[in-house]
Amino acid sequence: MLEMRHIRKSFYGVKVLDDVSINLYPGETLALLGENGAGKSTLIKILNGDYSRDAGDVILDGVPVHFAEPRDAEGAGIRMIYQELHYAPELSVAENLLLGRLPHRQGLLGWMIDWNAAREQAREALKLLNVNIDPMTKMRDLSVVEREIIEIVKALSRKARIIVMDEPTAALTPPEVQQLFGIIRDLCKQGIGIIYISHRLDEVFQIAQRVTVLRDGKHVDTRPIAEMTHKALVHMMVGRDIEERAEVRKGTAAIQLGDRLLEVQGLAKTGAFEDISFHVRAGEIVALFGLLGAGHNILTQTIFGIEKADSGNVHIGGHPVQVASPQDAKRAGIGFVPLDRKVNGLVLGMSVQKNITLSNWSTLAPFGIFRPKKEMHNTRHWVDKLGIRMAGGIETHTRYLSGGNQQKVVLARWLEANVRVLLLNEPTWGVDVGARSDIYDQLEALAAQGLAILIVSSDIEEVLTVSHRILTIYKGHLTGEFMQSEATQENLLHAAAGGTL
Ligand SMILES: Nc1ncnc2c1ncn2[C@@H]1O[C@H](COP(=O)(O)OP(=O)(O)OP(=O)(O)O)[C@@H](O)[C@H]1O
Ligand SMILES: [Mg+2]
Repeated sequence: MLEMRHIRKSFYGVKVLDDVSINLYPGETLALLGENGAGKSTLIKILNGDYSRDAGDVILDGVPVHFAEPRDAEGAGIRMIYQELHYAPELSVAENLLLGRLPHRQGLLGWMIDWNAAREQAREALKLLNVNIDPMTKMRDLSVVEREIIEIVKALSRKARIIVMDEPTAALTPPEVQQLFGIIRDLCKQGIGIIYISHRLDEVFQIAQRVTVLRDGKHVDTRPIAEMTHKALVHMMVGRDIEERAEVRKGTAAIQLGDRLLEVQGLAKTGAFEDISFHVRAGEIVALFGLLGAGHNILTQTIFGIEKADSGNVHIGGHPVQVASPQDAKRAGIGFVPLDRKVNGLVLGMSVQKNITLSNWSTLAPFGIFRPKKEMHNTRHWVDKLGIRMAGGIETHTRYLSGGNQQKVVLARWLEANVRVLLLNEPTWGVDVGARSDIYDQLEALAAQGLAILIVSSDIEEVLTVSHRILTIYKGHLTGEFMQSEATQENLLHAAAGGTL
């Protein structure tokens, strides 16, 4: 049904796509894989008319097409679920879902929007994913994950022939992912073709029939998934073998734990969480695992001073701290990688270098004297270490980086900053397998240096691999505590779903 042939694209003279071809059959799911910056999003943005191509053809049902803008692609039945969320924050869920096709009725003063019908239609659409969100809620009042779900529902609720999903599950936990997969299978049965981009390889094996791999803007290979192993797939993406992480960790010696660097006592916030008490020691990596809306995201935001608690205390290094703002939190030695990097994490109009060194002025400018050489040196260090890739140098604005590379920049800032407690929300959101392993190494190294690290992650593999201890949260209450050695997918999910042990 779709062919993209010999596609080429450069940004500022840097080749981003170099003779890439893909094809898609009706009723199949094609996985599109590759490391961060490989060119996946660029390719599908060309398909959707967001970017123009320098060369090559796009052929739909045997007919060459030129989409000058996304509206043209939409007219041809192509739906995008973008890696970056696209929504109007001030509009309601219903308005976002029905944008451009709100139902009307004849009123006294002429045609007017039929809100009752709109609410009903939106409710019907939300049922697709079994989500319990009031259609009249404003988008800005939803959590990031809920907004992502609305994006998915929006694409699914309009008649489509081809649906492209660019990392749709980045913030979804296993039950939500399975729900989405059920829908994808139904769509395929109706003859819809799906292009599925993800860095979670286990998902690709579950949902895709074929896989196309890109590396450095070039087409590496396209193969039936049944012929592939996990290891072979990683090799195709990265061009070398990567050690299996879980194996490595099992062999690591007992870690050295120090004092309680972060201690939370009886923290509560009405409607969000209640009576939360836990601690993280120096040298320890603790994960907080919960399903959609469990309260873990707002909890970390509260510890960092973005949200306000109603009661309870936070101690840092044994001393009570009053954190009323992120500035207070930073002063107390807390670093924070937020879920929505576009809102709280990155300064898009600033260079990679400035973004990385933003929180480390005390070292880079001792006594107010700025040391540009050191700034550049430190930036280069992280760019190498985490494999941050961009078309252009460290002066490139972060706006132009691929999704995964933006995430690495946010992380590099806090690795560079001098903090004692690090809170990380989905630290590897959108990050490729190779870099993911590097990030885990960095986190372990930081813990070994005596930091206390708290991770919130929906990726259960990640939780099991990187943390020493895991706390589960359900409807704003802690429901379980597991040492790494005793944690399994089953018991974590059980506790995160409210089950008691
Ligand atoms: N608008 C743009 N201007 C300049 N460079 C860009 C632009 N969009 C993408 N690039 C560059 O093109 C390359 C490919 O980016 P792309 O977003 O397609 O990667 P990706 O495979 O989707 O990666 P990820 O897995 O991190 O999302 C990157 O080096 C990126 O910096
Ligand atoms: Mg991308």
